[in-house]
Amino acid sequence: MTISTLAGAPHIHYANGQLHVEGCAFEALAQEHGTPLFVYSKASMLAALSAYQRGFAGRNAQICYAMKANSSLAILQVFARAGCGFDIVSSGELARALAAGARPAQIVFSGVGKTRREMREALEVGIGCFNVESEAEIDVLNEVALAADRVAPISIRVNPNVDPKTHPYISTGLKGNKFGIAHDRTLATYQRAAALPGLHIVGIDFHIGSQITDEAPYREAVERMLDLAQAIEAAGIALEHLDFGGGLGINYNGETPPEADALWATLLAQLDARGFGQRKLLVEPGRSLVGTAGVCVTEVLYLKPGEQKNFCIVDAAMNDLPRPALYQAFHAIVPLAQSAPAGAQPALYDVVGPVCESGDWIGRDRTLAVRAGDHLAVLSAGAYCMSMASNYNSRGRAAEVLVEGTQAHLIRSRDSITDQMRNEHLA
Ligand code: LLP
Repeated sequence: MTISTLAGAPHIHYANGQLHVEGCAFEALAQEHGTPLFVYSKASMLAALSAYQRGFAGRNAQICYAMKANSSLAILQVFARAGCGFDIVSSGELARALAAGARPAQIVFSGVGKTRREMREALEVGIGCFNVESEAEIDVLNEVALAADRVAPISIRVNPNVDPKTHPYISTGLKGNKFGIAHDRTLATYQRAAALPGLHIVGIDFHIGSQITDEAPYREAVERMLDLAQAIEAAGIALEHLDFGGGLGINYNGETPPEADALWATLLAQLDARGFGQRKLLVEPGRSLVGTAGVCVTEVLYLKPGEQKNFCIVDAAMNDLPRPALYQAFHAIVPLAQSAPAGAQPALYDVVGPVCESGDWIGRDRTLAVRAGDHLAVLSAGAYCMSMASNYNSRGRAAEVLVEGTQAHLIRSRDSITDQMRNEHLA
């Protein structure tokens, strides 16, 4: 048996000429569940988590999985059972996290637009911290907490004005972004919040962007946050925790982001040097915990040769895999069968879906030797694919399978037509 592992995805490999995830062949999963089909490796998620756990060994740290990356219940359950808390951004995410077994005290609530209802719900269940993003939100949260006879634990998200050198749509810590409170307003905002009876300050946080592949922006943001933390504490306001957000990138197309443990060795040395190493530390990783663990299996419907382009039309589309259309993102696409099938000549294709938009592409200029009916695997599809999937073109959202060794659990059934029309009424 020959085994060859794909770069960046340690639990996805060819064995006996067929692409496998752990002990399961994708082809068998596609036959059983149909396509498009998202398949996740539990071992891969836990391996990604253990890089963070190694990095924080001996520290007082809480990993809060940023569930926007993939909020399917069984995925949340894997992380809850492994001891993770959660970073949430809506009451929908709160309800999902609780349904999957999250401990409320380990939940942090981020986002620039929390509604009063969402604040009340989060206060009622006793979440660990509200990551507040504006001065206006501070006043509203104080009012909501007082009305509910509660005290809201808060952290203020600082906007450190650091360039994470990633796609502009996923940069969040620059002056021009809507997120966080400007660095030079931070101390005054802490002082104002400290005077409000409905709030209890517990921390400080930042999140500078996503798919960050370089250590430097983190080092810079940490330095700036520690400057602020020192100034805030000098003003008599204690900070129980420091929260560094998420953002660590993954390998989509040969990127070489640092491993979580290596990144944290550097950042912890920085914290130690400034006397913050023994503080409670929070991180909010999303993509780096689930991204490479997921694959979307799709079937080739038609090959359509053209004058300028050849198209490989598959049954997955931008409603299933929105990242290429939204961010011109690259996902590797590989065949399930390692050797080219008889009669298939390698050719250059744009891999596109059935949705009626020219923006509906999954990969451009890919060399593939395929025939109609063959299956392809779209790699690194564990993060921000299913969680951003839609029913556009009245396409049902895909099914999802979680693989554990040789076992495959169906964790989400494909949307039926009834599912799609459930909340609608003829006038
Ligand atoms: N914490 C906060 C406050 C965030 O806004 C985010 C992501 C995270 C944590 C998790 O970041 P991660 O570790 O996953 O990079 N849809 C885009 C990514 C949007 C990220 C938004 N915020 C994409 O597909 O690339």
